[in-house]
Order: sequence, then structure tokens, then C-alpha cells
Amino acid sequence: MIKPIFKDQNDVYILDQTLLPDKVHYQKCSQAKDLVKAIKELQVRGAPLIGIAAAFGITLAIKEFQGEPAEIKPYFYQQKDCFANTRPTAVNLCWALQRMEKVFLESINQGQESIVKIMEQEAENMLREDIEKNKTMGELGQELIQKPSSIMTICNAGTLATCGYGTALGVIRSAFKRNKIKKVWVTETRPVLQGARLTVWELMQDNIPVTLITDNMAAYVMKKGLVDCVIVGADRIAANGDTANKIGTYALALAAKAHNIPFFVAAPISTFDPGIATGDDIPIEERDCVEVRKIKGINITHPEVEVFNPAFDITPHEFIDAIICEKGIIIPPLQEGINAMLSRG
Ligand code: MRU
Repeated sequence: MIKPIFKDQNDVYILDQTLLPDKVHYQKCSQAKDLVKAIKELQVRGAPLIGIAAAFGITLAIKEFQGEPAEIKPYFYQQKDCFANTRPTAVNLCWALQRMEKVFLESINQGQESIVKIMEQEAENMLREDIEKNKTMGELGQELIQKPSSIMTICNAGTLATCGYGTALGVIRSAFKRNKIKKVWVTETRPVLQGARLTVWELMQDNIPVTLITDNMAAYVMKKGLVDCVIVGADRIAANGDTANKIGTYALALAAKAHNIPFFVAAPISTFDPGIATGDDIPIEERDCVEVRKIKGINITHPEVEVFNPAFDITPHEFIDAIICEKGIIIPPLQEGINAMLSRG
């Protein structure tokens, strides 16, 4: 299995996703600021993976601390904010940082070296647990897939967006093992092409049949009767089930509804944000104009044209037929289902 992130000795290594599929290159991150930059620039991306990257990053930050013992706590919070602000939509980032905060506070009186060891262990635990959760989600979610199915997905909610196996692609992987998958339709996912560059690469590594389309072809492919269901990942799920995911997901949900095609979301519990009532309150990251003006560094328009570049959109809960998480499958009414799932131990 591809490793999107790992720690070796004193350094953290990330598979640089901006270079895929042309180059498989692991970048060494020796300092916290390297990981802040890697998250901002999408070298590591995908909601669960940026959470784990931040967990390793804040551990490096504590290791770098050189102040008086009394200053370590405010320093931790300053670093926590720095990581939390890298990408505002994915709530997994805050979830991971909160876990790190808990172990930091529990060990604060043990001296810097011990704090770092405990934090390193927690980041490793989160990495291992993420893969386990994805496998569980895959097993549960594949029950929703009929044989033989053609499934449409957007962006990359696979190994490359997690620590391994994936969320939406985890469900597809588990269904594929049971010979339920005829093919996966992958939308290219402008502006930065996570579908074309990452999902295609990842599925082809596993010999899962894949057909690439541009984003504007999705409704036509559905109309032709070539899609049995849509499965996507999520960056944040509000209390009522409204779901933030890669820009273009909402359009897929609308088209799926119009064609009576089931629309499923696969996401771990760490993606739920019960403190946010509806999707209207989810912060949507807006990214640099350059991502829209260029494709792989080449200008495709007037270099100064005004650009709007929201990285995510909100799919209203009415368009979602099921949310698959590691604790089970939530079906409408989603608000009640989410409440019940989150209150389980
Ligand atoms: O901007 P990205 O590439 O980080 O966006 C990723 C997505 O939208 C994924 O679908 C989401 O994070 C779920 S990943 C398991």
C-alpha cells in the first residue's frame, strides 16, 4: 500500500502529491514550518491526512521549542493556531490538533523530551487508527454496492487523502474485492485535478477499472444510464448532514438526484462537526487565482482575469442517501442518525 506520510528517526516524510502522477517523490520535513507549507500548498491534502500531518507537525514544533518552561503552553497554542489556519474547511485538522492538545496538557509537567515522545506516540496512533477506520468503513459501505456497479467519484478520497485505504475509495476497494465493481468514473476535478492526477493513479495501481471524464461530462454520463451510484468523501459534516466536500460535489449530487442515482458520503467520525448546525456555517476555503488561471503551471487564460476559486461546496443533506462512517451507516433523516451515531461509545 502507498504510504502518503511516515516518520523516520527525527523527520517526517510526505509523498509530494503536487508531483503525482509524474514523479513519486517523498519530501523530508524536518521542521514544523515544512509541514505548514506542505499542507497549504497541497503537497499533503485530503481531510484525514492533513489532520495527521498537523499532528506530526505540532510535535516537531514542540521539539523545536527553546524558551523557558513557562512559555511552552502559550507557544503550543500559537503553533496550534498556525496549523489550524492552514486549511479552514476540513474539520479533521481541528480534531487532530485537539487530540494533540489533550496529550500535551496531560504531559506538560514531564519535561520537553517526554512531552515530545508522548506526542509522537499519539500521532503514530492516529495514523494507525485512520487506516483501521477506513478498512472498517470500506467493509460496511460495500454492503450498499450492488454487483456489478459503475460508481462515480470526485477528487481523491483514497489512500492519498488518508493514511491508507481511503474513505470513498476504501468502499470501492472493499466492493472490488467482492467483484462488485464494473468501473469507476472519475471526474477530473478542476482546478488542481485531484481526480485526474491522483485518483486515476491510485486506482490503476490496484487494477481497478477506471474511466476519466472532465467535470462537465458527469450529468451526461448519468443520463446515459452509466452510473449506478456516486460515492464521495467529506471535509466537514454539519449536525443536519449538510456536507462540505471538493468543489463540484454539489453539482454531482444535483445531477444524481435528477437521474435517481443514489448518492453516498464516506467519512470518519472525525469529519462530523455537531457544533455547526447547517452547511451555511461551514467556512469555505478560497484559494489562489493561479490555480484557475493555469493548469500544471501553464496559463490557459488572460493572466490577469478576475477569478473565483472556492475549494469546496456544500451538498445539502436532502441530496444524501447515506453517510458511511466507521461506526455504521447513517440513513435519512440524517440529523437524528448523526446524533445517534455520535452518542454511541
Ligand atoms: O483540496 P483537497 O484535495 O484537500 O480536497 C479533498 C477532498 O475534498 C476530499 O474529498 C475530502 O478531503 C475527503 S478525503 C478522504
